Amino acid sequence: MFEDVTGYSGERFLRIGAHSHIKGLGLEGLKAKLVGGGLVGQIEAREAAGIIVRMIREGKMAGRAVLFAGPPGTGKTAIACAIARELGKDVPFVTLSGSEIYSSELKKTEILTQAMRKAIGVRLRERRRVYEGEVVQLEVKTRKHPYNPYQEIPDHVVIGLATKDDRRIFRAGATIASYILSQGITVGDVITIDAETGRVTRIGRSEEAAEKYDLAAVDERPVPRPGGPVEKEKEFIYVLTLHDLDQISAQSRSGGLFSLLFGAPPTKEIDNEVRREVDEMVKKRVEEGTAEIIPGVLFIDEVHLLDIEAFSFLNAAMESELAPIIILATNRGLTKIRGTDMVSPHGIPLDLLDRMLIITTRPYTRDEIKRILEIRAAEERVKLSPEALEKLTDIGEQSTLRYAVQLLTPSQIIARENGREEITPEDVEKAVKLFSDIRRSVQEVERWKDKYLY
Ligand SMILES: Nc1ncnc2c1ncn2[C@@H]1O[C@H](COP(=O)(O)OP(=O)(O)O)[C@@H](O)[C@H]1O
Ligand SMILES: [Mg+2]
Repeated sequence: MFEDVTGYSGERFLRIGAHSHIKGLGLEGLKAKLVGGGLVGQIEAREAAGIIVRMIREGKMAGRAVLFAGPPGTGKTAIACAIARELGKDVPFVTLSGSEIYSSELKKTEILTQAMRKAIGVRLRERRRVYEGEVVQLEVKTRKHPYNPYQEIPDHVVIGLATKDDRRIFRAGATIASYILSQGITVGDVITIDAETGRVTRIGRSEEAAEKYDLAAVDERPVPRPGGPVEKEKEFIYVLTLHDLDQISAQSRSGGLFSLLFGAPPTKEIDNEVRREVDEMVKKRVEEGTAEIIPGVLFIDEVHLLDIEAFSFLNAAMESELAPIIILATNRGLTKIRGTDMVSPHGIPLDLLDRMLIITTRPYTRDEIKRILEIRAAEERVKLSPEALEKLTDIGEQSTLRYAVQLLTPSQIIARENGREEITPEDVEKAVKLFSDIRRSVQEVERWKDKYLY
């Protein structure tokens, strides 16, 4: 039944904007270029990340995790994104911030489990018997609805399909007739009909029909009329995640095929029994050779926000056969593990730390900050005068790189308001006045403390 769910791809990839300039780790072999893939400096961390990418590709990361540790704005998230880019788009990369596990609707462990299962891809191969061709004849016969004489419902359909070499005419029942009606299929469309389920898929308008009947206004690209026999075996490949399969399976339990096809709202909390069955199905298909598991990455940012329960859960989950690679990031040094009075490095329990390869990031030099700002400005299509760039670089040095990067857009809006495309140091100063960095915002709150009612 897997052909029914090709639309289920959403959610899987990064939600980024701040890191859109990053295209990869910028390595040559295992050596980092000074500037590459949109990344500047941070050479050791990037080279370490390059080794991680190889370990992931060679399947040598199972049961292990990576921790990025370093001060704010030193590129931890940026390098994690670069790892995702290096792995390619078929490898799921899921991001979660430590704070996201605290929700009023779902248990912490449920959120973590879903995130982990979104990070495991399954490539399913299915050989199916189909009828495929261009529709050359189509008569949908309707009859009166048994309870409502004013309504007509499809009864059966007579359909002719032609390929370059073959032509067949079928008479099919109400299911296929309603598929055809609901998709507005007409003569000249190329379609496939699944021999088992009767599901009809419209591939597109045939080239011949597009030329003969349609005006140029049709904005879809016509497809050639297929060759070979009308009835054939075809291989379909779908990449879904374990979470997708959980959802499909949970839905088909509660609402049957109907909810699956007509988009019932996704099930929030998934039964562990459903997951067990999905795992079994996947394993069976892997053994049969019709499925392949693609372990992906779960990236948990601000990991010190997880609590002891979440850490124990992660630790146990990493042992399971179908676990993704876990990458964590934190900017905390020695700190309390949330939910306890225990102080631990990075606020992470020792048994979990034991499994980790730790990559540290260090503050940038002035030149590096300048290069990063230049790249970011180009990415956001922002023009900086040389003096404005110097000014922003100062800010990046004194405050954080992230703050300097964030000032680009407000500065541009201020410049435009003054009728200029190019940002001057005055525009940057104005933006600094209007938007605080964290240190200043904390100072302000402290200064006016007495005015707040507690
Ligand atoms: N080495 C780098 N090269 C290019 N851009 C970087 C680099 N390091 C950080 N950035 C950019 O600077 C901003 C802040 O970095 P970020 O990765 O969010 O820091 P962290 O996660 O360590 O707090 C982001 O926009 C990021 O893409
Ligand atoms: Mg970060």
